Amino acid sequence: MEDTLIGKLNRREAVIGIVGLGYVGLPLVLRFAEVGYRVLGLDVDASKVKTLNAGGSYIEHIPASKIRGARAKGFRATTRFAEAARADALILCVPTPLTLYREPDLSFVIRTTEDLLPHLRRGQVISLESTTYPGTTDEELKPRIESRGFRIGRDVFLVYSPEREDPGNVDFNTRTIPKVCGGTMAACLRVGLALYKQVIDHVVPVSSTRAAEMTKLLENIHRAVNIGLVNEMKMVADRMGLDIFEIIAAAATKPFGFVPYKPGPGLGGHCIPIDPFYLTWKARAYGLNTRFIELAGEVNRSMPKWVLGKVIDALNQHGRALKGSKILVLGLAYKKDVDDSRESPAAEILQLLEDGGAKVAYSDPHIPVFPRKRDYRFKLKSVPLTPATLASYDGVVLATDHKAFDYDLIRKHAKIIVDTRGVYKADRKRIFAA
Ligand SMILES: NC(=O)c1ccc[n+]([C@@H]2O[C@H](COP(=O)([O-])OP(=O)(O)OC[C@H]3O[C@@H](n4cnc5c(N)ncnc54)[C@H](O)[C@@H]3O)[C@@H](O)[C@H]2O)c1
Repeated sequence: MEDTLIGKLNRREAVIGIVGLGYVGLPLVLRFAEVGYRVLGLDVDASKVKTLNAGGSYIEHIPASKIRGARAKGFRATTRFAEAARADALILCVPTPLTLYREPDLSFVIRTTEDLLPHLRRGQVISLESTTYPGTTDEELKPRIESRGFRIGRDVFLVYSPEREDPGNVDFNTRTIPKVCGGTMAACLRVGLALYKQVIDHVVPVSSTRAAEMTKLLENIHRAVNIGLVNEMKMVADRMGLDIFEIIAAAATKPFGFVPYKPGPGLGGHCIPIDPFYLTWKARAYGLNTRFIELAGEVNRSMPKWVLGKVIDALNQHGRALKGSKILVLGLAYKKDVDDSRESPAAEILQLLEDGGAKVAYSDPHIPVFPRKRDYRFKLKSVPLTPATLASYDGVVLATDHKAFDYDLIRKHAKIIVDTRGVYKADRKRIFAA
């Protein structure tokens, strides 16, 4: 089985099934199609499937022309999981969020696995890419697959290979971002490497699926902890009358031993605010507390409130109360130049401002309508930035530093600017660092 599957992969005769066609799955579809594989996309969202089959895209940085290019090379999407039997590789890219109680929510991974189970066949490789805690592949996927009588490493092959997609990053793409891969056993790893080396320049083997799962968590926890650290430094610097961005830029001239991280209004996105708590949860089963993760989470989660305090101070200096003020939040996406607002601190800032009695609005060229969210129910549309609209607000909060914003226009016409991204030099009269 192993040699047959590796041969099919090497000759690019294999059919690649991508399950979950979101920010992670769709770039993989395009990459496998680009090098000549037939790609089958599976998703439970019928509207996404329809859009893709009509040659359209629902992700801003993936142009429809690329989807049409993949379609011309045989890519097709479906909601019918029975078609998974046709695929030689099944790559799972489904969400791994947290529950309301901030514990891992593996329901998407488990549901996908169970939906695929009846359609698995000998000679397939199954790869999980969703970010998760060490042990998921072994404890959740392996026994389910074995329950169908398959021998892993003989009949089917199981690997974990974490996605490192960085939407909006123009320096790296799916092909050039090295990819880590761990297998349930040596044969699984050999097949996993054969699968990914066709589309990724540098594939990094590790000793097990657990090691691969932990690698991804280390990467994201490293970010979360360092962002927490720099956010704390920002608050200290602010109290001392120092500009944290000047200090970071100066420290970054050290050619070794320092990695610059930027402070901001809090953590956002599908990964950094969430993934560390997958490890926290699992570590508890080993009698361990992940204190760095908790501490960084505490600092990062406090940032929107800190920004709120800065808005209140700024208004106060201009003789105004938050209650009754009109505040415009600039940027709803969790980071610059993307259309993704998952876990965005800007949404929390809007909520805090509204709770304080402000009349709120937002402007984000990448997100025309405030999306449906579990925690927020705003019925807002993005406000276009003109001299008149800017001047009609008592203050603006720069939450996300999109390139598309006209920063001179904002500086000229906003009455007060509360800047969480270090775009402006604060003067503590009209421009306030937050
Ligand atoms: N977005 C990123 O930049 C990024 C980067 C690295 C890792 N990740 C990880 O990759 C995983 C996927 O993230 P994403 O950003 O692509 O999510 P997403 O929400 O953009 O996409 C997930 C897709 O899965 C589909 N889906 C949900 N349940 C399904 C099911 N049972 N069967 C088939 N499809 C189903 C959804 O309809 C959606 O299209 C997560 O674990 C995330 O942590 C994301």
